[in-house]
Amino acid sequence: MASAHGRAGSSFFARLFKGFSLSSGSKSSAVGLSIGASTIKVAQLKKTKTNWKLEKFSSVPLTEAPSEHREISNVVSTVQAIQEAMAQADIGLKDVCSAIAGSGIIIKNLTITVADMKELQDQVFWEAEQYIPFDISEVVIDYQVTKQGQDNQVDVILVAVKKEYLEQYMSVIEEALLQPRIIDAEVFALQNSFETNYPVTDTEATLLADIGALSTKIMICAGGIPYFTKDAPFGGIAITNEIQRELKLPTPVDAESLKVSGNLPHEVSEIVARMCHVLGTELKKSIDFYSASSLGPPISSILLSGGGARAAHMTKIIEDNTGIPTQLLDPFVRLEIDQSQFSPEYLTSIAAEAAIPIGLALRAGDKP
Ligand SMILES: Nc1ncnc2c1ncn2[C@@H]1O[C@H](COP(=O)(O)OP(=O)(O)OP(=O)(O)O)[C@@H](O)[C@H]1O
Ligand SMILES: [Mg+2]
Repeated sequence: MASAHGRAGSSFFARLFKGFSLSSGSKSSAVGLSIGASTIKVAQLKKTKTNWKLEKFSSVPLTEAPSEHREISNVVSTVQAIQEAMAQADIGLKDVCSAIAGSGIIIKNLTITVADMKELQDQVFWEAEQYIPFDISEVVIDYQVTKQGQDNQVDVILVAVKKEYLEQYMSVIEEALLQPRIIDAEVFALQNSFETNYPVTDTEATLLADIGALSTKIMICAGGIPYFTKDAPFGGIAITNEIQRELKLPTPVDAESLKVSGNLPHEVSEIVARMCHVLGTELKKSIDFYSASSLGPPISSILLSGGGARAAHMTKIIEDNTGIPTQLLDPFVRLEIDQSQFSPEYLTSIAAEAAIPIGLALRAGDKP
């Protein structure tokens, strides 16, 4: 069951792997591995008496563009990139917590009426069949109770993932000679990163949006409860493709390097701004749906992460579109940092991409 600290996703799928266990000898450290569509990211945190300390971080770009459905198209290069990221960060631990995003994972908030809690599981699985667009025998299902109200009403969050998809992620991790101790959903890692670093209240909700290469992971949460989640098919690749198409550039690589260059030519910044508006409109739709359905308390702030959040004026454009104060999520605010190891400039440069891997590393161990 979800606790007040919002660890609703903490054990999704964990039972498949007989629960999480840290490697012997380094019981106080935990590793998060994010297999992104464009970049592999790893983070290692160490549990201190009262907090978590950032120990290691690294990211390695993938050489191949991913498929729209996130199948790992080139297993060999993905395995190599994972191994390279672990080596670069000098991580010796083998147990990792990783996560899935995209259309292969379905997350639904359901309100279920049950006379007897013993019937809950059957009822959840029965309802699940109506929401899952795959054959039920092809998916792994898990759920957690988020609220037990009156009139036999129980709120649950249902998570279903295609077996094929889960197995593919696990085998890539195993081929990189690591142990996937928990496979979670990326949105829950995002929530965990947020709740570790920011004050949590149940009277105001926060919209988190991790803008990756292929998709934007959206989570609206308050008081530790995930009220709304969505994986919107918009990310940095869409912006790059639009630049390439409009400027008739020979390859996406040319468009990508133009996009990430500090000083954008006018025609590029116009395209980037237009694409940021597309995302702003998408977020506004989610906010309107959330508000109209009275799913949870009002949203008082938006926090952006993911490499796509670094696009020029993204924060301002999202704020203008939604009318809600918007900032970049800082996944390090409350972590212990050894400044001789990680300079403030370095942390700023990795903050956007680090939100999910940090959330995964936090997931791997209990919060102190
Ligand atoms: N300075 C920048 N300006 C604009 N976009 C940027 C910048 N830096 C990185 N990006 C974009 O961020 C994206 C990568 O971010 P991230 O590592 O969060 O994605 P990912 O995790 O690989 O993808 P996904 O979350 O979809 O699986 C790329 O599309 C890249 O072009
Ligand atoms: Mg990502």
